[in-house]
Amino acid sequence: MEIIIKKDALSGSHAAARVVARLVCEKPTAVIGLATGSTPLMLYKQLIHLHKEEGLDFSKVTTFNLDEYIGLPADHEQSYRRFMNENLFSQINIKMGNTHVPDGMAKDVPASCAAYEQAIANAGGIDLQVLGIGSDGHVGFNEPTSSFASRTRIKTLTKQTVADNARFFGGDESKVPHHCITMGIGTIMDARMNILLAFGANKAEAVAATVEGPVASIMPSSILQHHPSAKLFIDEAAATQLKLADYYRWVYDGKPDWQKDA
Ligand code: F6R
Repeated sequence: MEIIIKKDALSGSHAAARVVARLVCEKPTAVIGLATGSTPLMLYKQLIHLHKEEGLDFSKVTTFNLDEYIGLPADHEQSYRRFMNENLFSQINIKMGNTHVPDGMAKDVPASCAAYEQAIANAGGIDLQVLGIGSDGHVGFNEPTSSFASRTRIKTLTKQTVADNARFFGGDESKVPHHCITMGIGTIMDARMNILLAFGANKAEAVAATVEGPVASIMPSSILQHHPSAKLFIDEAAATQLKLADYYRWVYDGKPDWQKDA
């Protein structure tokens, strides 16, 4: 695991954007896994900037989003499909047909989940997966005790996640769907690279448990310790509970130039 501590969310997001941009330049047909929520917004803004100002070309890129609420149609203002269309896809030159978000309105959820896994496999697997993290350590919507072998499936959100996400539903917890479709931990671990972004003091505990705690399904994100290529982009506020924060800074600052954006 590589821990990259930046002074704030903006510089952390820009550093993460460089990794995504480098992949897209080196492999124009890259398959990228995407997250929603407030965390990746600055990353997406920067990718839009790189597209508009520097010609970063997404025309051959394929994307797969991590998750979607069950029961929200694609045009619902809180659906993750709409979030992605508004905050990224409509502002870059990606082909909409190359973008995938789990279908929250699927009539046959298990079949739809199996088809999602098959579509990822047919695309050649995910080259780079973008992750946020819940205050309870969820990645995607893999809540605590999710199987490390899990694939795309239905999950029930914890009360904590429902409370955390009520801010997107006018603060009304009763409006937050309790069920979602999410890629599994196994799906996420199959990505060739994972980049996890975490900003703000409310993520500090989960970040410390992810990086320095035991690997256990009670803290789903801790499985990233077993991933061969996982990078965490965090800000100072999210780094406050890391015991080895100084070591991570020392490692990053001492990297040879050729490795800096790798
Ligand atoms: C969203 C997702 C979730 C979020 C997490 C953090 O697609 O997969 O794991 O990344 O709930 O959400 P924010 O960024 O809103 O704090």
